[in-house]
Amino acid sequence: MPEIFDASALLSPRANAADEGAIIRMSQRTREMRAKGLDVVALTIGEPDFDTPENIRDAAKLALDQGFTHYAPVAGIPELREALAEKLRVENGLAYKATEIVLANGTKQAINNAVLSLIGPGDEVICLAPYWVSYEGSVKLAGGKTVVLQSDVSENYKVPVARIAAAITPATKLIMLNSPSNPTGAVWTRAELEEIAALVRAHPRLMVLSDEIYEYILFDGEMVSFGSLPGMLERTITLNGFSKGFAMTGWRLGYAAAAEPVAKAMARMQSIISAGANQFVQRAALAALQGPRDEVERMRQHYRARRDLVLGALRAISGVKIADIPATFYAFPDVSAFLGKRAGNHMIETTDQLCDWLLDKHHVSIVPGTAFGAAHSVRLSFAASEQDLKKALTRIAQGLSELV
Ligand SMILES: Cc1ncc(COP(=O)(O)O)c(C=O)c1O
Repeated sequence: MPEIFDASALLSPRANAADEGAIIRMSQRTREMRAKGLDVVALTIGEPDFDTPENIRDAAKLALDQGFTHYAPVAGIPELREALAEKLRVENGLAYKATEIVLANGTKQAINNAVLSLIGPGDEVICLAPYWVSYEGSVKLAGGKTVVLQSDVSENYKVPVARIAAAITPATKLIMLNSPSNPTGAVWTRAELEEIAALVRAHPRLMVLSDEIYEYILFDGEMVSFGSLPGMLERTITLNGFSKGFAMTGWRLGYAAAAEPVAKAMARMQSIISAGANQFVQRAALAALQGPRDEVERMRQHYRARRDLVLGALRAISGVKIADIPATFYAFPDVSAFLGKRAGNHMIETTDQLCDWLLDKHHVSIVPGTAFGAAHSVRLSFAASEQDLKKALTRIAQGLSELV
């Protein structure tokens, strides 16, 4: 008998270790339930529900007609790198040269370029939980080790610097910083970032990856780019992209800015994985940066009104704990008061079980905090219509009230 071929036995340890994650799982379950005709409200995915502004779409169409359909330079078209250097200088106080900026096919890829450039086996990366789920996957892919530090709602989901200091070892190379934060909406203050900068100054091998992709969805407080703090430019890889602020998720364009040796390494990583980011999308991004920003502002106003609605509704549910949400389109309430309870003869021990139960019984889809390294919270995305938000929050309140 010839041996039966089993392709799954050939998968690399790297592929086997890559986890699709809870967001994909909840989205998939939502789709399946909708396919059965059920009215499911989904606050699962972190993407603007607005279309990309017209001037950006027009610029892409024009670029296509002008023949910008060929390979782009690996690190990006010079005009866009120049425009981004100007943007980072004027808006963020960051003096990167155009040659220190590398465009990528989405900010996710920019993160992977950065992590693959710096991290290998034996290196440690500090992730401040709750953190965006992809950081862990990127570090794993690079063969590094994540060191996860916890914070909770009573700390506004920001890990105190003393705890970060205590976690640094000779193997620590990178701290992942994400302000404003997905999933919590927290914004680090200048004073808090100054404390991290002092820590970085004391450790000559340490760098910070500062993911600033939600900078334009800020409602309260100040946006401080970590690299703008004294002495931090060289020590920071600044990450940003067009997906969130300009509602361009499907276009796939992000970038990283870093000291030249790191920028060059990131371009080398990208040349192996995918080559330069899409040409006509880069032309459209130029229009996004240089054109009017009223649409960006209009979207921000909508998110702010929804933030008020969601925060009000969540605060009205007895047992839910929630911090202020100064930015982003996410709410991350602590629901630990509902764990260990039962619905009928159904025991709810974890946020995964809570989210599954809310989906099955109340047809509302949200993401368990375990996806973000936080066991006691759930994430709701309020990049959804007011009508859907009201419906979802009524269902969540009803569901939680049934747990005894
Ligand atoms: C914190 C954070 N960084 C990066 C990204 C990736 O953005 P992009 O769509 O540009 O890959 C996301 C998307 O959800 C995010 O939330």
